[in-house]
Order: sequence, then C-alpha cells, then structure tokens
Amino acid sequence: MNSIRLGCDYNPEQWTPDVWRADVALMREAGVDLVAINIFGWSSLEPAPGQYAFDDLDEIIELLHANGIRVNLGTGTSSPPPWLTTRHPEVLPAAADGTTRYPGGRQAWCPSSPVFRDRAFALVREVARRYGEHPALALWHVSNELGCHNALCYCETSAEAFRTWLRRRYGKIETLNEAWGTSFWSQRYGDWAEIQPPRAALSVRNPAQIVDFHRFSSDELLDYYRGETAILRAHSSAPVTTNFMVTAHIRNLDYWSWAPEMDVIANDHYLDHRLGDPVAELSFAADLTRGLAGGRPWILMEQAAGAVNWQPHNLTKAPGEMLRNTLTHVARGADSICFFQWRASAQGAEKFHSAMLPHAGTDTVAWREVLRLSAALDAIGEVAGTTVDADVALIFSWESWWAAEGEARPSQAVEYLDQVHATHRALRELGVTCDIVSPDADLSGYRLVVVPCLYMVGDVAAERITEYVAAGGHLLVTFFSGIVDERDRIRLGGYPGAFRDVLGVRTEEFAPLKPGHEVTLTNGATGALWTERLRTTTASTVASYLDGPLPGIPAITRNEFGDGVAWYLATSLDARGMRDMARNVVQNAAVDLLKEDGGDVEAVRRTGDGRSYLFVVNHGVNPVEYPATGHNLITDERVGGTLRVEGGGVGVVREEAPA
Ligand code: GAL
Repeated sequence: MNSIRLGCDYNPEQWTPDVWRADVALMREAGVDLVAINIFGWSSLEPAPGQYAFDDLDEIIELLHANGIRVNLGTGTSSPPPWLTTRHPEVLPAAADGTTRYPGGRQAWCPSSPVFRDRAFALVREVARRYGEHPALALWHVSNELGCHNALCYCETSAEAFRTWLRRRYGKIETLNEAWGTSFWSQRYGDWAEIQPPRAALSVRNPAQIVDFHRFSSDELLDYYRGETAILRAHSSAPVTTNFMVTAHIRNLDYWSWAPEMDVIANDHYLDHRLGDPVAELSFAADLTRGLAGGRPWILMEQAAGAVNWQPHNLTKAPGEMLRNTLTHVARGADSICFFQWRASAQGAEKFHSAMLPHAGTDTVAWREVLRLSAALDAIGEVAGTTVDADVALIFSWESWWAAEGEARPSQAVEYLDQVHATHRALRELGVTCDIVSPDADLSGYRLVVVPCLYMVGDVAAERITEYVAAGGHLLVTFFSGIVDERDRIRLGGYPGAFRDVLGVRTEEFAPLKPGHEVTLTNGATGALWTERLRTTTASTVASYLDGPLPGIPAITRNEFGDGVAWYLATSLDARGMRDMARNVVQNAAVDLLKEDGGDVEAVRRTGDGRSYLFVVNHGVNPVEYPATGHNLITDERVGGTLRVEGGGVGVVREEAPA
C-alpha cells in the first residue's frame, strides 16, 4: 500500500554470477522491488530426472533478499526440459491435423498429459518445499502464460480427456447429440468412444463441437493450474497467481472461470501494432483485467520497455510512451507494474526483444526512460489501493467470441474483438470509463450496459439483461447479438432472438456488406460490414439506411421497455458515428462524460478512502485542458481549476473536494 511496485522478469540462468550482482545493484538504482525468477528454470533446476540443483537459485534469492527485493517465484514448469520430451514423447502436443508439435521452442506439452503433470508437479513440490516460507517470497507465479501456445491440443490423450469432460457435461450421449445437433450431416454418436476432438476435416466442422472443445481446453489448463496451486498451498502461505494474456491476439482461455481461483489478478500486455489503434486496445485490456479482478487492484505482470520481437514490424517506444502506457494501466486499476524482462537476452529466440536494461547498457535513452518511469511511480504511490469508478458496464464473453467466429458465418469480416473495441473506443474517447463484466454479472449498479456483438448468450444472462432494463437501466446492443443459446442453437422466431423483446425489433435476415462497401444513414453516419432486414415492433427508429441493400430500413432504434431504455445498432458505424451514438446513449442515461470530443486522451478517476485522483494521459500531440483543482503529483504543482497536459504528457491530480 502507498506504493506502486516496479518489477520485472529476470532470467539469471542466461548470465554469470558477476552479472547477477551488477544486475541487482542496477535494480536498486531503478527502484525495482519485485522480481520474477525461475519462469523457465526447469532444465537448470532438474538437469536429469529427479536430480535437483538448487544452488544457483538459492544464491539469486539470497542476493535479491539481501537487497530488499521481493521475489515473484516461478514454479519453473512452463517449458519441459529436453530429457522429458525425449524419454516421454507422449507429452508432446498435437495440432488439429494430428501432427506433433516438437520441442525446440517452448510450452511443448499436452495440457492433459498425466506424465507431464506428474513430472511438473514433482518439480513444484521441490520448489515449494524449499522456498515456501522464504521471507523474500511475495508471490507464486504458476508456470507462465498458460495456454499461450498449447491451449488446443488434439492428441489422443487430449481426445480421451475431452470425452471424459463431455460425459461430465452431458451425462447421456443423447443429450450430447441434441446439444451438438448431430442429426445434421449424419454425425449422430452411438457411443462416447466415437467422439473426437474437432480435428482438421474436409469441410466445415460441427460448430457446437468446436465451442465445447474450447470450453474443455480452457477447463483443462485451469485444472492444471489447480494442481500446481494445491501443492504450493500445502507448503506456503504466499499468494498464488499466474499471468493472464488479456491481449488482442490470444483468445483460448475463458478467464471469467479462471479469475476466482487467483489470489491476485496479473496480466501481460504488449502493444499490438497490427491493430488500427493499439493504445485504445491497451485501455480496453486494462479495463478487462480490472473486470477480472472484480474491481480490485491488479498486477501488470509483463509489458515491454520498447519493441517486442514477435510482430512482423516491431516498433520501439518514443520517449514518454512507456510512461503513458504505464499510467494508462495504473489509471485503470494496476498497482504493480512489471516488465518482460530485466536484461535483454544475448542469445535465444528473444534476443531482439527490448528490456529495461538494453544490450547497449545504461548510457541509453531506454535506461533513462526506466529511471523516469520509476520516479513517476514513486510520485503517485499514494494512489495504490484506490479503485476505479464506472457507471457503465460492457459485457464481454470469451465463449461467445469462440462461437461467433465459427467457420461458416454470415460474414468473415465481422470479428468479435473489432466490434467490442469499436464500442469501447467510442466510450473512452468521451472520457467514459466502463467496467468490463461477464454476461452473468450483477448489472444493477450501472446506469448503462453495453452489449457489443454478443452472439451467444444463455437464458439466464439474457433474462438478467432484460430485467435490468425493465427496472430502469439503459442498454445498448449492437448487431449479431443474442443469436444463439449456449449450444450454438439459433434462437428461432427472428433475430436478435434473446434481445428481440427488450429491443422492440425483429430481424428477418442479415444483409452483410462486402468489405470496403458502405451505407449512409439518415443521421449522416456511415455504416459498414453489416445491415439487416429489421422491423420495429415497439421501438422507434433513430436512423435508417439511405442506400445499400436495405434503403429505408431502420439501422438504429430506441425502445422504452419497463422503466428503462434499450438501443439497438444494426450496423458497424464509422468512428465518429459510433462516438456520436455513444454520446447520445450515455447522455440519455445521465452518465457523466469527462470530455465530449474524440482525441487520444485517457481521462479516468481512481477513488477510495475519501480521496480522488484524476488521471489524464495525453497520447496525442496537442495540449489538453481539464477542469481540476488539487495537486498534480507528477509535476508536484498546485492545480487551481484547470489541469493542462501537453501533447504526449501525463497528469495525475489529487483532487480537492469541491467546497
Ligand atoms: C510473453 C512471455 C514472456 C516473453 C514475452 C515477450 O508472452 O510470457 O516469456 O516471451 O511474451 O513479449
């Protein structure tokens, strides 16, 4: 409390002891106080089966401890040593076409493999016994980014585990046949043994089977996590977590089911320059991580000081950019900021990945940026422990993501995350912070609930959303929502089945647009990707299509339902159109805007214990001004009514209560 931790991954296995000592001295200089070690330690710790070599790890832990640095201790199991995959090739995972994925990279293990679990758990037991009560231990770091590469394994061991999982879920084979719609294309099963994972096929595969395979795969790795955690708890009272990958390109784990099992939520985030707006995605990921943390502070477990090495074009960070990125995470609830990694590797697959300490050493812009960041985190330390206020909830679902991006769907150009990002971005541009919540969340505290592209929704969640509106809530639903139930079965009678009544509309058919084609709406906005033949039942029309395949048909509607209001958006609006619509909806719901314009600026409040902090992070080039009175912790200056933040700058104001 009262401080924001600064941390990093450290891989001392790659360096000699004289480097360790120099590193720890520099860590102190940089104010690093939490270091993750032993993430990829297995082949060093257990060089041969059952032979453990802890001397180096002992020495590193003592060195960190002597320097007042706490340890975020990896269990070391993320990548198996060569002796294991050589003696037991059955632990290797298989791709959808049945081909083996060999060692030589990392994470080459099948999540269901009993042999892998047995060997990994033996290592965890040794590590937990040895360090479980060490005074330097702050946190356990189970494996690393579980499922980053091996989430979907199609080997025979996984196939058998999938069958077991299906038996538990459905009980009877007939129930499974119904759930998967196996009357279609002669897929009816007579026995569990006939079922396979959705391996590569000649045509479109059964979509319900694919969604269940995703569910199974997420559960299987969570079960693995539980296995390691149980061992740690038997030997240690330190909190346990693993690093999530709430980031644009990873989607294989349903973190809503994982989150309750973490003692603290930790996320890894890297700017993805393949996206149109990487910084807006950062804000989204931070909000989603806070959602997983149930609003409590969370740990940014990894970010890059500069470039990564795994995108096609790896852009570095301009001076000030790392600070802005970091404060965006802090503004949205992070209380610890860690990097991958401390010292840039000289060898191996990540030798071109940036680090806090670059190849060129300390006489570098990168190192000075680290010191600058450290000073800024010290200056704002008092925000730790406060939480983020939000009047708006955005419903997000991994399960629906898997289902919505089926192999055969109305438009391959409609991607779930794009639609979610567009909605979130519009709110962010208005200075509206939203909590990102699961479809099963309690919505009663929110003034507005936003449901972008929620293709799959269960009855209970759909009813809860409907009741929320009836009780006076405001709702915005965007197209391709409420289409199927949890079995991926169409909700018949007109789209958007689950939300037809609350929205007061009925759609007969979808009319997607070719990429690059646009439609004009009567309110001047432009739509792309999607239109639909929609009729209002009880809703009123806010805007219709002027052209395209459905001229005159409503594109935006508004329905008064019970004591609340429900809006529907049936196309993908351009950014300005989306922002205008969001402003309309938000103001109608009496939600406060921190700003009205667009512009690439974060404006977020953290509050708690009677204190209030306004974060303004200006990612743009022009100065911005916000009404604020109090003290700017970054510049250590009084703010008397207006906070001015230069282009590229940041401000964090401890606000004085209005007189
Ligand atoms: C993460 C991983 C780290 C490192 C980093 C590079 O996926 O946990 O070990 O590989 O990416 O960006």
